[in-house]
Amino acid sequence: GLPPRVRIHEVGPRDGLQNEKAVVPVEVKSEFIHRLAEAGLGTIEATSFVHPKWVPQLADAERLYPLLGDLPRGTRLPVLVPNARGLDRALELGAREVAVFASATESFARANLNRTVDEALAMFEPVVARAREEKLTVRGYLSMCFGDPWEGPVPVAQVVRVCRALSDMGCDELSLGDTIGVATPGHVTALLSALHEAGLPAPRLAVHFHDTYGQALSNTLAALQHGVATVDASAGGLGGCPYAKSATGNLATEDLVWMLHGLGIETGVDLGRLCATSAWMAGQLGRPSPSRTVRALTGP
Ligand code: HMG
Ligand code: MG
Repeated sequence: GLPPRVRIHEVGPRDGLQNEKAVVPVEVKSEFIHRLAEAGLGTIEATSFVHPKWVPQLADAERLYPLLGDLPRGTRLPVLVPNARGLDRALELGAREVAVFASATESFARANLNRTVDEALAMFEPVVARAREEKLTVRGYLSMCFGDPWEGPVPVAQVVRVCRALSDMGCDELSLGDTIGVATPGHVTALLSALHEAGLPAPRLAVHFHDTYGQALSNTLAALQHGVATVDASAGGLGGCPYAKSATGNLATEDLVWMLHGLGIETGVDLGRLCATSAWMAGQLGRPSPSRTVRALTGP
């Protein structure tokens, strides 16, 4: 059956904005995050503590994070940290939840982290250990779980190996990324079954779909039917992927909420307020939201 409630892990301010050409002013980011929280999103990935030259869009993390101190109690604000330096920066600001981000493929590990897959895992291990000592919640992202722009389809066994490594080093939750949006539902089911057999059951997993080929919602439904109850999405479908031509970005949170509410699944999200927020953000970015639901509910 389907879960009665789904936790949406909102990634718009991080995964969305990191892939937008425009650099959004820090005050606008803060307003965006406040409005997302007011729309009922309880987990909002705020920013990344990565090298500012690698992701200039998020170079204002030190200025942004302190603006978020007055969010409703209990709002979770995970941030990305690739290494010890990133974790230091996050701890300095009082972050309580961090994410490391691995790759299932060598090509993307090189492009995204300047490391091999195993070198990146070795970089994360002390970060996760220290984060756990500090009682932080730790998410492990895994990119390119289905296909890779340089290597093509990614073997399930390769994904399972890196998931095991992330779990063994102490990640509380793993997010399976279809970074370029090529997955289809049968592939999702096959991966989730293999992970289950490897001792990584659905309750420990989240799914992170991109909508390049229009499959993100179908893939999400396949994952829900398999017991996954945490879904990553980006308000207004913000973002894209620099490695995929015509990539349309993450699954739009509004499209996800429309489906979940239609299925009678609780999210805590007020869809009207969320659409208004994404329409406002689209105005800030100077282009319409790619989300079908935002267009349908806010269009002329
Ligand atoms: P590197 O060049 O190998 O870094 O990059 P290094 O360790 O050799 O250090 C070089 C310099 O960078 C040093 O400075 C460090 O201090 C500094 P120097 O001594 O030369 O003056 N440095 C830092 N400065 C600030 N903050 C830091 C930091 N670390 C080192 N944290 C590195 C390695 C990991 C740093 C780099 O590759 C990087 O920042 N990568 C981040 C890439 C990124 O953020 N990608 C997007 C997120 S992943 C994603 O979006 C996928 C996901 O959405 C899921 C999906 O869709 O698949 C999660
Ligand atoms: Mg992503």
